[in-house]
Amino acid sequence: MESSDRILILDFGSQYTQVIARRIRELNIFSEIVAHTITLEQVLAIKPKGIILSGGPASVYAPQAPQVDPKIFSLGLPILGICYGMQLIGKHLGGKVQKSERREYGRGQLSVKTTCPLFTGLPNKLDIWNSHGDKLITLPKGFKAVATTENSPYAVIQKGNIFGMQFHPEVAHTPRGKEMLHNFVLRICKCKPSWTTESYIDRTIADIRREVGKDQVILGLSGGVDSSVAAALIHRAIGKQLICILVDNGLMRSNEVESVKAIFGRGLGLQLRVIDASERFLKKLQNVTDPEKKRKIIGTEFVRVFEEATKSVGAAKFLAQGTLYPDIIESVSIDGNPAALIKSHHNVGGLPKRMKFKLLEPLKQLFKDEVRLVGEALGLPKEMVWRQPFPGPGLAVRCLGSITQDKLRILREADAIVVDEMKKSGWYYKVWQSFAVLLPVRSVGVMGDERTYDFTIALRSVDSQDAMTADWSRLPHDLLAKISTRVINEVQGVNRMVLDISSKPPATIEWE
Ligand code: XMP
Repeated sequence: MESSDRILILDFGSQYTQVIARRIRELNIFSEIVAHTITLEQVLAIKPKGIILSGGPASVYAPQAPQVDPKIFSLGLPILGICYGMQLIGKHLGGKVQKSERREYGRGQLSVKTTCPLFTGLPNKLDIWNSHGDKLITLPKGFKAVATTENSPYAVIQKGNIFGMQFHPEVAHTPRGKEMLHNFVLRICKCKPSWTTESYIDRTIADIRREVGKDQVILGLSGGVDSSVAAALIHRAIGKQLICILVDNGLMRSNEVESVKAIFGRGLGLQLRVIDASERFLKKLQNVTDPEKKRKIIGTEFVRVFEEATKSVGAAKFLAQGTLYPDIIESVSIDGNPAALIKSHHNVGGLPKRMKFKLLEPLKQLFKDEVRLVGEALGLPKEMVWRQPFPGPGLAVRCLGSITQDKLRILREADAIVVDEMKKSGWYYKVWQSFAVLLPVRSVGVMGDERTYDFTIALRSVDSQDAMTADWSRLPHDLLAKISTRVINEVQGVNRMVLDISSKPPATIEWE
């Protein structure tokens, strides 16, 4: 990774910090998020070409306000403070920030008053998006006002290569914000745009080879995007030294195991061990109805089966995982919520520490959309790279109440029809997730001349950005009609279908 220029983003707890990082990476510049508590020595060790101070919910004068080492402003590096970041510049370099009772939130218009490299190639009037509480009322020493808004004479300020912006250039509501960031990283920081999918693959392959040497690597392949891309990347680096283990827990969807075998085993020629543990899992799940119990049983059993499988493989030194960048960012917790501090990424999947593997996490610098691009570049099929998320406990959390083989059969068949029709109509790739849920409710119906007393399938389809919040998808009625007709006609044991129209919160995406 030494060869790419990088931008360091100091996080002060803004909900948009990751968006800044992604916007910059879209410009083919590597950007890295670090907590605002980073020391000057650590900053220097990273050798960034420029620094961005993120926004944040605090007030710079609050007793617990996240701070920055003010010596950062004397390093001579280009700095861009966004929102809270600008207020820190104001506070530390001799300006004045006014506490305000209300946040200024929403659209605004920026008027650029003087030439400034941030606005090269841009018009003097620009639409922007505000979301700030406090604002700068006196310029820090030596700074000039570059641009104003209706409510603020200091919407953008500059002194040499230190810049402050009161609004958010990273969000879509600031339509030309990406060009402002482009000007900052390319013109002002003079970064070379070398962060591309191909360069990432080349560097990572070299890194994997160097790190692994002649040792063996084990990877738990689920067929999901992350583990699949990790497998393809590591396989390209070390070929047969990678052994993938697919645990068939009996809770996978129709044809899922087969398609992983086809793509990775026969297609890529990867060493793939499929462990059929379905009976073990289903036996443990017999008569269990409590959702949390189901999840615990599946988690524990997975670890056992996986551990046994790794022993049978031999002396592997590394365990590979498809950990992504958002899993390892040490997010700043302004409200003092410890859960947000450090995610337990080194325990993904609950694999016990006693397994004593060294971890290999070749995707840990990537956002999900970058992982998909890597997957495409490695030649993985679209169906795999753009697959919707699927929960670890599989169909168990979509088969409500106790789980039986017959209920799983019904759910699998119904789900396959949902996926098929969503794909045929082009909706599968537009929504976040779309799937069938089997309700433990039977109702009366009539089929031909006969009375039926069968199960109900619910259709769950949601739109979402990150699964934290979600809304039910407004699918066309014709598509809903087609899905329900097919499910009720083709799946034996179903005589009714309902549509889930709940948003998250207060509902969740999965039913259990
Ligand atoms: P909920 O149901 O909490 O789901 O709104 C949010 C997202 O997470 C997925 N999900 C899981 N993924 N293991 C996973 O790997 C799990 O146990 C799990 N539970 C939920 C869910 O599909 C949705 O995308």
